[in-house]
Amino acid sequence: SVWTAVDAYTLSHLHPSTPNSEVLLHALKNSRDKGLPDIASYPVLGKFFAMQCRALRVKHALEIGTLGGYTSIWLASENPGLSVTTIEVNPHHREVAQQNLDHAGLADRVDSRLGPALNILPLLAKQIAAGEKPRLGFAYIDADKKNNWAYLDQVIGMCEAGAVIFVDNIVARGALVDEACFATDEMVAGARHVVENVGKDNRVEGVVLQTVGEKDYDGVLMVVVK
Ligand code: DHB
Ligand code: MG
Repeated sequence: SVWTAVDAYTLSHLHPSTPNSEVLLHALKNSRDKGLPDIASYPVLGKFFAMQCRALRVKHALEIGTLGGYTSIWLASENPGLSVTTIEVNPHHREVAQQNLDHAGLADRVDSRLGPALNILPLLAKQIAAGEKPRLGFAYIDADKKNNWAYLDQVIGMCEAGAVIFVDNIVARGALVDEACFATDEMVAGARHVVENVGKDNRVEGVVLQTVGEKDYDGVLMVVVK
């Protein structure tokens, strides 16, 4: 499609190296070979998130929904001073992610946790409060959509001022504003719930960026912590 042609052309000039790096291609292939669903992030979004971390000089990033570790590899490989905590509920996905992180030589900077994020987040909050880990400068929420708000609400409390949080799959080909979808689909309902709550929350401000590309028409909610 024209969308993927534009991504290919612009990346080839702006960033010819990392999207085709051996470690990212290995992560995608190993994830596919081990049966993980093809719903990872993609090069433009990976680069965009890595650049957010660079611009903000982020020391500690959080990801909810590791899948095969593709986005964690982007964040850590592009930012040498960055540590990532990443949470995955599916043991098989987490095992494949650990293989991919080991292969990328990033296992020392990416802390992969197995379990439901609703259980792991309070543990991480305690570690941050105790000074064992820095406060978060960046977070990416890309897990079960019905818990989007429950995750974001806790993550905000672990962030430093000025931190940026992205929530994936908000637009879902326009389902966000299609009543036939959001009345029945709990994923879409979860996207609306987080947008509506961010709008009412004085701790943060937010905006939705619509995206097109190899993952079709979607969008991310960007949240900045005041
Ligand atoms: C889908 C895409 C995603 O990025 C995700 O996190 C979950 C599901 C999908 O296309 O179904
Ligand atoms: Mg997603």
